[in-house]
Amino acid sequence: MARILITSALPYINGVKHLGNLAGSMLPADVYARFNRLMGHEVLFICATDEHGTPAELAAAEAGQTPAQYCDEQHEIQKRVGAGFSLSFDWFGRSSREPNRKLTQHFADVLEDNGLIEERTSRQVYSVDDKRFLPDRYVEGTCPNCGYEKARGDQCDNCGTLLDPVDLINPYSSVSGSKNVEIRDTRHLFLLQSKLQDRIRKWVDARSANWPQLTSSIAYKWLDEGLIDRSITRDLSWGIPVTRHGKTRAGFEHKVFYVWFDAPVEYIGSTVEWAEANQQNWERWWRTDKGADDVAYVQFMGKDNVAFHTVSFPVTILGSEEPWKQVDRLKAFNWLNWYGGKFSTSSKRGVFMDQALELLPSDYWRWYLVANSPESSDTAFTWESFKASINSDLNDVLGNFVNRITKYASAKFEGQVPDGGTPGEHEAWMVQQLQERLPQFIAHYEAMEFRKAAAETRAIWAAGNEYITKAAPWTAYKTSVDQAALGIRTGLNLVALFGIIAQPIIPETAKKILDALNIPEGNRSLDPKKIGEGGYPALLDALPRGLPIAVPPQLFTKIEDAQVAEWKARFGGE
Ligand code: 2FM
Ligand code: ZN
Repeated sequence: MARILITSALPYINGVKHLGNLAGSMLPADVYARFNRLMGHEVLFICATDEHGTPAELAAAEAGQTPAQYCDEQHEIQKRVGAGFSLSFDWFGRSSREPNRKLTQHFADVLEDNGLIEERTSRQVYSVDDKRFLPDRYVEGTCPNCGYEKARGDQCDNCGTLLDPVDLINPYSSVSGSKNVEIRDTRHLFLLQSKLQDRIRKWVDARSANWPQLTSSIAYKWLDEGLIDRSITRDLSWGIPVTRHGKTRAGFEHKVFYVWFDAPVEYIGSTVEWAEANQQNWERWWRTDKGADDVAYVQFMGKDNVAFHTVSFPVTILGSEEPWKQVDRLKAFNWLNWYGGKFSTSSKRGVFMDQALELLPSDYWRWYLVANSPESSDTAFTWESFKASINSDLNDVLGNFVNRITKYASAKFEGQVPDGGTPGEHEAWMVQQLQERLPQFIAHYEAMEFRKAAAETRAIWAAGNEYITKAAPWTAYKTSVDQAALGIRTGLNLVALFGIIAQPIIPETAKKILDALNIPEGNRSLDPKKIGEGGYPALLDALPRGLPIAVPPQLFTKIEDAQVAEWKARFGGE
């Protein structure tokens, strides 16, 4: 049994996330957590809302709330929606809580003690009309790289370039719209990333063999461009106060730490929250001097987050010279697009998690998003492909199989796993299919290849359908009840197995199936040993004869053209 720490990129607090966000971090992290629990490993799955920074302040202002009120409310909403999607976090924390504040201030202290943080004077956009410095997104203007006129101070949404607000052409305040802005001097803390350039490169070299190409190419791109010293404080009131050894830092009374400095620290902070709430020990997950050296730590995120996790956060961790657990494997995702374009939070383009749940149960979305995961390239959500995938994979291949077998067992075999019959060539074929496919299913998950894992899951369901066509128990029944019993018993064992392997991606449906088959909660894991050595008895004859079974409630309903038309009218498409 291994110990696996899994973190998903922390969703920004500013509103419910869209399906693209879900598909690129929280969902695959959940699927991976569920897979590892299925394999019997000890898993700790941590997430949280990322609550600081200008996006939070701006969204609160727009909602007419204080940032604290806004974050309280939005955290609860995101938590509820996450539960609606069956995201099985062991803890869903908040970066605005005490543990993160303490840890972030601690990191700043030790980094400064180690000569990696210094105060510098920097030039910053000051709004004369707003009487304040304008950090990040409080300034907008024309992108110096591509000419886009509504580029934000920290990043251009059009070309993706990371920006410094003072580089914007024709800057204006996004608070008031005022163009009466000037560049003034102000003091900030700088993290001297350049000093750690060589160490970070060695650190990446030592790990990148374990990272997908997307992850390592981004890390090396940043390293090749050279690490620059970055300001880690901002002129905001909402955030983690800038202290020095526990006291407010002189001159920094109206400044806070930059959101990207404290956000990744919340992976640890959230674990501390979990530990405090559950009388657990967080250090055995995070301190290599306290037992965390045997933890495998896996991070999930969209590609825009990779640099922060392969370079910036490692600077914090390595620079501290403290024995923190570091990431072992990092799975990054491309974009899930909305038709040709992008999902967009600001322009409300696409389907958001709360809306999705109003339309259909979470498993429909989970299946589609995992089966079409944007792993090797960007992929596009379309209603047409969504409908095709649900109707075929879930309804026809899985749902119908489960329904037919359990109904027939109820009608003809008193709702029990029937005895009788001797396994023959069809059963041997099915065993062989499973012995080939189940190890691949496991291997794809272990490699975190989610599309392939979903495809293999479907292939196993499809093989079961092929088996039952060959065995044709309904025809056999006319001449040999024993022969029919063999087919239905094997079919019921397949139903159980299909439910077990479905658990990572469609947990609600899997539970309905396994509950109907009276499989005890403690008996729903996958034992790789049984696959290799077990043969027919372990794979297809594991259910006790006479075990009472029920027909599960209807698992899926087909998506109709009329629904697609309605959703297109509501959400757009084309
Ligand atoms: O891009 C985002 O949504 C960020 N909120 C991710 C933060 S990940 C971690 F470092 F906190
Ligand atoms: Zn641009």
